[in-house]
Amino acid sequence: MRSYVIADLPGDGIGPEVIAVARDVIDQAGRRHGFVVHWRPCPLGSEHYLRTGQVLPDDVLENLRKADAILLGAVGSPSVPPGVLERGLLLRLRAELDLYVNLRPSRLRPSLESQHSVMSRGAPGIDLVVVRENTEGLYAGAGGTVHRGTAFETATEESLNTRAGVERCVRYAAALAAGRSGRLTLVHKANVLVHAGDLWLRVAREVAAEQGVELDYAHVDAACLYLVDDPGRFDVIVTDNLFGDIITDLAAALTGGLGLAPSGNINPDRTGPSVFEPVHGSAPDIAGTGKANPAGAVLSSALMLSHLGEHAAAADLESAVDAVLGAGGAPTTRAWADALSAELAKRVAR
Ligand code: NAI
Ligand code: MG
Repeated sequence: MRSYVIADLPGDGIGPEVIAVARDVIDQAGRRHGFVVHWRPCPLGSEHYLRTGQVLPDDVLENLRKADAILLGAVGSPSVPPGVLERGLLLRLRAELDLYVNLRPSRLRPSLESQHSVMSRGAPGIDLVVVRENTEGLYAGAGGTVHRGTAFETATEESLNTRAGVERCVRYAAALAAGRSGRLTLVHKANVLVHAGDLWLRVAREVAAEQGVELDYAHVDAACLYLVDDPGRFDVIVTDNLFGDIITDLAAALTGGLGLAPSGNINPDRTGPSVFEPVHGSAPDIAGTGKANPAGAVLSSALMLSHLGEHAAAADLESAVDAVLGAGGAPTTRAWADALSAELAKRVAR
């Protein structure tokens, strides 16, 4: 039987609530498709930090490196200053494990089309993938504050864009586009951010020509307009770290909400594990109420299973989510879990 070691990093707030559901459906799909998952609990997050002062200890990181994949819920808590966990855990994992692609598919699932406001205005459906550069740009941590607390206090954040970093990300996106529609759109703000924009444009033109994909370009502000008004123009979007963060929340809102949106932080060279997580955060406003939607975590699990080569199990998770949505969704996390389990059981019986 095939087996996988998966690190289970549920994190804070609704993270543990949605990851518990994801683990169960993965185990259930494994029983049908002939694989078993050895879960490695990894209790990092705000509680661990407040108790020990540790965010991501080196020995834990070394253990994480040995996993086949990492399933993450969300981190961040009102009781921890902003950035401590988001940067110290999430961004550090992305850098340490060289997860240079953040893959964020956005599809308006058939069961939601009828209720969709953009659809009702006659716009074509949304079925796109954003390939967000995940280790550089404004999230690389370059910058600082001088003269803090004075009238001349100065804060800078620098956007780092290396030729190698941009190229490997664009290469991944172009290969993905070649396997889909053959269309790749670069989203940037090259009319104002002329230095980084020029590098991204030159690299995208070279790589697109080399891989035989058609390259389109949109400024990030216009891309937001098109996502709402004419999303059919997009298939694969490649963009930098900040723009990708922002436009994927918009794409999520247009395709059923943050609760449904999946993502993978991918190391395409497979020199270590990739990290899969729902796009949403720890949602402290609804944590503990039992209302968190686990679908984003389950669809992220489907991305993870595909990455591990378990395509049939991934397809089962996708179709189970579609079936539950088709039946009107579920009002609570527990109801989602039961409905998904019943759907998967039907597939076992088939
Ligand atoms: P959020 O995504 O946690 O919540 C935004 C809104 O969406 C809230 O009203 C929340 O109730 C709702 N929501 C989110 N996920 C949901 C789900 N599965 N089901 C139903 N409703 C859902 O973003 P917010 O409030 O900006 O951030 C909260 C904390 O999470 C912060 O500490 C932030 O830094 C952190 N965060 C962590 C991320 C990660 O771990 N990758 C990503 C985004 C935020
Ligand atoms: Mg975000």
